[in-house]
Amino acid sequence: MSGHGQPIPMTARPGHPLNGVANVPGDKSISHRSLILGALSVGETRVTGLLEGEDVLDTAKAMRAFGAQVERQNGTWVVHGVGVGGFAEPSDVIDCGNSGTGVRLIMGCMATSPITATFTGDASLRGRPMGRVTDPLSLFGAQSFGRQGGRLPMTVVGAREPVPVRYALPVPSAQVKSAILLAGLNAPGETVVIEKEATRDHTERMLAGFGAEVRVEDGAEGRVITLVGQPELRAQTITVPRDPSSAAFPVCAGIVVPGSDVLVPNIGLNPTRAGLFTTLREMGADLSYENLRDEGGEPVADLRARFGGNLKGLEVPPERAASMIDEYPILSVVAAFAEGPTVMRGVKELRVKESDRIDAMAKLLRAAGVEVEEGPDWWIVHGRGADGVGGGAVAESRLDHRIAMSGLILGMAARKGMSVDDGSPIATSFPIFEALMRDLGADLSRG
Ligand code: S3P
Repeated sequence: MSGHGQPIPMTARPGHPLNGVANVPGDKSISHRSLILGALSVGETRVTGLLEGEDVLDTAKAMRAFGAQVERQNGTWVVHGVGVGGFAEPSDVIDCGNSGTGVRLIMGCMATSPITATFTGDASLRGRPMGRVTDPLSLFGAQSFGRQGGRLPMTVVGAREPVPVRYALPVPSAQVKSAILLAGLNAPGETVVIEKEATRDHTERMLAGFGAEVRVEDGAEGRVITLVGQPELRAQTITVPRDPSSAAFPVCAGIVVPGSDVLVPNIGLNPTRAGLFTTLREMGADLSYENLRDEGGEPVADLRARFGGNLKGLEVPPERAASMIDEYPILSVVAAFAEGPTVMRGVKELRVKESDRIDAMAKLLRAAGVEVEEGPDWWIVHGRGADGVGGGAVAESRLDHRIAMSGLILGMAARKGMSVDDGSPIATSFPIFEALMRDLGADLSRG
């Protein structure tokens, strides 16, 4: 859990080109889902390549608290599930640390069982809205009692006799979609979720892989996902692919740090996740997809990022937002080193992530000498060109891993470097970030 230990101030300094191979950890979204679906299956699920970051380890603990066995055996995670509807009532509060994905998905999968659980998290997670999940869960018959504004700590009383639900998502959120589908597992009949904009589709794909009947249709209302309830999920063997959202950091560092040439192998280019890479190429970044191949039905490539120095600002198409929602902080850093403005619209979800990411990055960039304009659901970064960013400030990372990493990547290319007040949240999603960036040649230190 982040935010419970001592803050770790960190500083990155310029003048060190990045070269070499960056093997980033497993995908955070798929790691959470592997443990959760393993816990809801009958038999032994084996997972290799699991992200061993704090967020996912908190989900492993939670699955144990609901009665599943979860163990690490020689680098493989082994889950003995309790089956759909088999969750036991936890004997203590479930602490999901920093993880919105963890808490929202787990609320979903216990909400249609006759058990009660109380959830909490760190200061960041306790500030985030849970009503977006508990509203649809109440339609199944679950009840929830939280703090004002639907904040944690919160107790969820699962439905004794759940009914299936048909729900159109009011916000583009894979977490909300997934919570509903996981709740639908233990409801009789068909649960339907409709999304106007496609968000990451790992839950649908993995539910089908575990043996559930899932239909996905494109209709006039949007993407319609139908799950047939009360399946028997069958244990699976899973190899977690590497995380494109973690790959984003060494890729963007390679693009903005002069003299760099970085290879980031085996990155999934699932269209619901790859919006950043498309945007970087449109900005004129020297980013190539090497060894492009198909793995398990999804496109995968080795990403090669080289410094080119002639990036151009652009307007990011708002309909692309869901496919790069976690990547706007690091995109804004690349935008600072581009010529001209980069305009990002339709991004109000950024205000309810681990921090208000528009506000956090606007303050960080302004402290580094970059002009930023912002509104409720848009922001504009006025680029200063390849060698125009001053840096030389200490930014607040606000218990947000992606703000901390973005500040440090900026420091690797800014004239006077950049510090963050606390790098400890990086361990939630990318525990090897510091070692990996140093191996590439970065001047990254604590203090
Ligand atoms: C995630 C969904 C996204 C994303 C988060 C992971 C998931 O959140 O920001 O890092 O695994 O479903 P939202 O669903 O709130 O957009």
